[in-house]
Amino acid sequence: MAFEILSTPRAQALALVVLALVLFKISQSLLRSHRRRQFARQHGCEPVTAKYPHRFPYLGMDRIYDGLQARKEHRTIEWVHQKFLEVGQYTLSFKIFTKTIILTCDPVNIKAVLATNFDDFATAGRLEFVGPLIGKGIFTTDGEDWKHSRAMIRPNFVRAQVANIDAIEVYLQDMFKLLPSDGTPVDLQPLFFGLTIDTSTEFLFGESVHSLRGDEPGKPSGVAFAQAYDIAHRECALRATQSPLARLIGQSKQDKQNCKTVHDFVQRYIDEALRWRQTWDGKEKASPTGQYTFLYELVKETTDPMVLRSEVLNLLLAGRDTTASLLGSMFFQLAKRPDIWERLRAEIAELHGANPSFEELKNLKLLQYCMKETLRVNTVVPTFIRNANKDTTLPSGGGKDGQSPICVAAGQMVFCQIAVMHLREDIWGPDAGVWNPDRWATLRPSAWDYLPFLGGPRVCIGQQYALTEAGYVTARMVQMFSHMASRDEGPWQEKLGLTCASKQTNVSLTRA
Ligand code: HEM
Repeated sequence: MAFEILSTPRAQALALVVLALVLFKISQSLLRSHRRRQFARQHGCEPVTAKYPHRFPYLGMDRIYDGLQARKEHRTIEWVHQKFLEVGQYTLSFKIFTKTIILTCDPVNIKAVLATNFDDFATAGRLEFVGPLIGKGIFTTDGEDWKHSRAMIRPNFVRAQVANIDAIEVYLQDMFKLLPSDGTPVDLQPLFFGLTIDTSTEFLFGESVHSLRGDEPGKPSGVAFAQAYDIAHRECALRATQSPLARLIGQSKQDKQNCKTVHDFVQRYIDEALRWRQTWDGKEKASPTGQYTFLYELVKETTDPMVLRSEVLNLLLAGRDTTASLLGSMFFQLAKRPDIWERLRAEIAELHGANPSFEELKNLKLLQYCMKETLRVNTVVPTFIRNANKDTTLPSGGGKDGQSPICVAAGQMVFCQIAVMHLREDIWGPDAGVWNPDRWATLRPSAWDYLPFLGGPRVCIGQQYALTEAGYVTARMVQMFSHMASRDEGPWQEKLGLTCASKQTNVSLTRA
């Protein structure tokens, strides 16, 4: 039968081409392995011997199942931490289908990925899962595109007081109206998401979507925008966790519609900003209102509507959920510690009831410690993923003792577990898992042991903005309410999306 198939000259030629291709692929793969072995030898690399304790080592299906289960039970970080402890090393490898992934919570490796070997790594397909919503911008690109975005956007964040405290106060008042003061429990986490979309859109577009206030008659629905954005955002997180599967399934019709709602809404602001740009005299005014507005700063740099839309949405994605997650987790912890709330009240009483200024916020030590400690214990960006864009190395994790450098092959992914690093007892002491802001009075962690905003060339540019906003909101809540009691049983639980928030922050509040 086989001979019959190959009986014609055309079939024989085709078979030869196929054979040549197969041989070519095999020889390429052998050559690559040979080069990699040489590269590893030159750099003193050893294989990663610490392996994820797979029950079924083939394809890593057990890990995928355990991961989904842990996520469902809101204990992903604890589960990953436990695996490091079981294996007894801070860098290990695991399987996803045929790929071997490196997992690390070792500061020296994380420093190498973020800084020392920065050029050897890229953001591992981020554009693919968040691209449909936010497009190409500072958060989703690498290489020259990213450099260009960063150079365009970074100067807007260099001003120390980039967060406009007066604007935050306006939206905070909207939130206060939704807070019962008769002790009825309220979940603060969703309200913080509402507050930060209101303040972020004010900062980015120059006009808030007023999700907490509701729509004004005759204006495009900001509430519909906020809802479509939230659903599309959740879809991005889902794509990120199901990456290969998501590629097969593609974008759903509903998701396309939500992205369109978001894009159409933003377009209105872009058109307005472009019209204003034509009349701008090249100096003086920052925006039509005279206020600092991100879009009006950006429109001075570029008039490409697609770039404007993408960069604004990249910023919204990077800045909105992160700040809300920090607030939700911090209030969960504060509600369990009335003693700290009392001391915060004493600290903030020094302002004699006045709204805190940017400088005053920086000097409220206990408030600063509370934020630092929350970003450690309830890390808002718990994991980041990079893939190597060429054969490279990491300084630790190889050999039996895990002390030798390791080789990372081109295309290989590295999962960096910041949340686990922040909970390591050998770094933070036996009470590493306990939320204790007072530890920051004396604690001076090494630069790469504490990375809530990461580090290196891609360090978060909104750090100052976020700490000002979260600090301001907390200080005003402390002024407003004499007591806050937790209405959640049990410890903090994570809610993982693109960030890590508190599953719930149920509290009852007593007006001062
Ligand atoms: C508590 C709040 C925040 C936390 C914990 C946080 C954390 C982070 C982290 C960990 C990254 C690096 C992500 C990665 O490269 O994989 C990052 C990047 C970034 N953040 Fe933040 N962030 C916060 C708030 C903000 C705010 C308020 C803004 C803007 C208004 C912002 C803008 C950005 C941008 C633009 C990037 C991308 C930088 C780049 O890739 O060059 N962030 N942030």
